Amino acid sequence: MIVAVDGPAGAGKSTISRLLAGRYGWTYLDTGAMYRALTLLALEQGIDPSDAGQLEQLTRYMEVSFQPGPDGMPRVFAGCREVTEEIRSPEVNRKVSEVSAHAGVREEMVRRQRQLMSAGDMVADGRDIGTVVWPEAEVKIFLTAANSERARRRRLELEEKGHDISQEKMEKEISARDEFDSGRPVAPLVAAEDAVTVDTTDLTIDQVVGKVAEIVDSRR
Ligand code: DC
Repeated sequence: MIVAVDGPAGAGKSTISRLLAGRYGWTYLDTGAMYRALTLLALEQGIDPSDAGQLEQLTRYMEVSFQPGPDGMPRVFAGCREVTEEIRSPEVNRKVSEVSAHAGVREEMVRRQRQLMSAGDMVADGRDIGTVVWPEAEVKIFLTAANSERARRRRLELEEKGHDISQEKMEKEISARDEFDSGRPVAPLVAAEDAVTVDTTDLTIDQVVGKVAEIVDSRR
C-alpha cells in the first residue's frame, strides 16, 4: 500500500509519515530530503539555483540514499557522505524551492522516487506525491496548519540545531517558500482531488497519527 502525504512546509509531514511508517512496519520516503541533498551539493559546487542545465546534470549523477539511524530517525546520504543535518541548514531552506522548480530536475527525481516506491508498502511525503509521483496511491493525505504554527515549529527545529531566527522572519520565509512551491508551473503544491485534508494546527502528533491511521486502516 502507498500512503502519499503532501502539504506545505512545517505541517508535520515528515514526523507523521515516519511514525505512521513505523506503526505499520513500512518504509518512509522523504522526497524533500532528495531535493535538499541536491540543493546542498549545488551550493557547494557553486551552481546557481537558476541554472537548469547544470542542476539537471547534477541530479542525474548524484546518488541519494537513506538508512535508518540507531534512534530510528532516517539518515540521508549523498554518495557515502552523510548529509542528514546539513540538508536542513537555513541556506538550503532558502534555496531549495528554486532548485526544485526546474522541470528537468523534477523529471529525474520523480523517476527515482517511483523506482523506490515500486518496492512495496511505503509512506512517502512531499509536495506532489498524490498528484504526480504516485497518483494511484491508496491513501492521500494533505497535511496543513496555520502559517504561524508552521513557522513556530520550523523555528524550534532550527533553534535545537543552534540557528537563531525570529518568528517574524520565519513566517516570512515559510510563506515565500509556500508561494513559490504553489505557484511553480511544474507539479505545484496542491491537494489531490481525492486527498483527505488534515489541519494539524491544534492537534498533537499522536492525534494526527491516530487520525491518519484510521484512514489507512479503513482502506486496507
Ligand atoms: O518537505 P521539505 O521542506 O523537506 O521540502 C523541501 C523543498 O523541496 C520544498 O520547498 C519543495 C521541494 N519539494 C518538492 O518540490 N517536491 C517534493 N516532492 C518534495 C519537496
